[in-house]
Amino acid sequence: MTPYVADPVYLNGRFLPLAAAGISPLDRGFLYGDGVYELIPVYSRRPFRLDEHLTRLQATLAGIKLTNPLDLAGWKAVVEQLIVTAPWDDQSIYLQVTRGADNKRDHPFPPPTVPPTVFAFASPLVTTPAEVRATGVAAITVTDQRWARCDLKVISLLANILARQQAVEANCAEALLIRDGYLKEGAASNIFVVKGGVLLAPPKTQLMLPGITYDVVIELAKSGGQPLEIREISENELRGADEVWMTSSTKEILAITTLDGQPVGNGPNAGRPGPLGEQMWQWYQDFKNTVMRKG
Ligand code: PDD
Repeated sequence: MTPYVADPVYLNGRFLPLAAAGISPLDRGFLYGDGVYELIPVYSRRPFRLDEHLTRLQATLAGIKLTNPLDLAGWKAVVEQLIVTAPWDDQSIYLQVTRGADNKRDHPFPPPTVPPTVFAFASPLVTTPAEVRATGVAAITVTDQRWARCDLKVISLLANILARQQAVEANCAEALLIRDGYLKEGAASNIFVVKGGVLLAPPKTQLMLPGITYDVVIELAKSGGQPLEIREISENELRGADEVWMTSSTKEILAITTLDGQPVGNGPNAGRPGPLGEQMWQWYQDFKNTVMRKG
């Protein structure tokens, strides 16, 4: 076992050591980035929102016209087996399906006789340390250079990778993607904005990944009576925000307290995590604990 990937991994119907898991160099995931993925957090060995993740996986597969290789029960069995054999209580389960390996390189889909490649593994869930949560993180804005189906969770992530690397080189945790003057999301997260006590969330369109954490945050805002507007957020509104948060399965809810080198917010709280983000983080923890207790 490597420190990051638990043995065994799952590959094409078998559980085997990572070192023994091999795929063809002609795999279309390798040649074209022709595939999809999911990342599911696991708390106390229980997958969080598994049905929702598998529903999004199905939607992405349909979006790239790839037949789902497993039914719901099949996926759940793979996920459960990985969780049981991994050495950590809190994990992230990675699932990937590619359009398989033909005997040549050719852009159109291979014949239906070519099976998809199905790969899955468990890693330890790396959450944000309390001291990082206490200060929040820095982010930059970049032009969104992705394609026009950002709602699909596909493995071809080059534009996201370049944006994230730009953030890393600026000593920042995330890059916020701006398209035509509007905030869409982060390179690997959804973004929320608070202004005047109102929580603003960009709408689900084809230009944003429908985050599972995003859905939970919106549900919690509604049930907690938090004023909420789901609408496009302009770059100017982003820059004038009282609070900015990023959300994802691994980051949960994390305050962005510096944007392009400027503190987020005004007054004594400028550049510090704000009260609504703290509240939401607490609601999220309570919700997680409730769900995990209920199973
Ligand atoms: N990324 N937007 C993008 C572009 C993402 O890559 C992610 C997650 C999200 C948040 O989605 P969710 O709440 O379902 O995790 C939004 C995962 C963690 C990744 O690529 O590793």
